Amino acid sequence: RIRQAPDESMPQDMDSAGRQASRCTRCDLCHAATQTVWGKGDPAAPLMIVGEAPGDQEDLQGLPFVGPAGQLLHRTMEQAGLDARRVWMTNAVKHFKFTPRGKRRIHQTPNVSEIKHCRWWLDLERGFVQPRLTLAMGATAAFALTGNNRPLTPRRGQVERALDGGPVLLTWHPSLILRLDGDRAAEAQKQFAQDLAQARQMIA
Ligand code: URA
Repeated sequence: RIRQAPDESMPQDMDSAGRQASRCTRCDLCHAATQTVWGKGDPAAPLMIVGEAPGDQEDLQGLPFVGPAGQLLHRTMEQAGLDARRVWMTNAVKHFKFTPRGKRRIHQTPNVSEIKHCRWWLDLERGFVQPRLTLAMGATAAFALTGNNRPLTPRRGQVERALDGGPVLLTWHPSLILRLDGDRAAEAQKQFAQDLAQARQMIA
């Protein structure tokens, strides 16, 4: 069920969309999360990078990609020659989803309903940015953008069509790389770096 505050008008720019999103109650994730984590960067960027959802640090700071996975993303972007100030970075879902375990909050993957409810905001962001290319990191972003829920492994490194028609390059989520070890981590990191380099070439 889509819940929308009746007094909300259609936002006309990124800033007002972000302000409306800060009051979002479309799904139940708003209740336990600290705050909405809106996208950041250049709203006129040629490249949009989409992750899954804010993590613990992002939830506390109110900014996307500031925790360990975000740091890996930023390091790899630098290697690929991608300037974070020339990118719009956001998430498929804009509230942190977690289960409490003692003092820790353990990240949970958003479900299909949460992803679909939050697509309202992703679509708005896409309408404002109109990126030439979108990089989908991980299966949640890939599903939110393309509507295709099939496993990422055979799709990674390839370009698919977003539901709105734009090209979407699929890659690993950096938090996956952080969970792997040894050779598998090194291989996944190499592929992630290759995909970011391909993204840079595609917007050059
Ligand atoms: N992982 C994501 O997908 N997004 C963030 O903002 C942080 C970690």
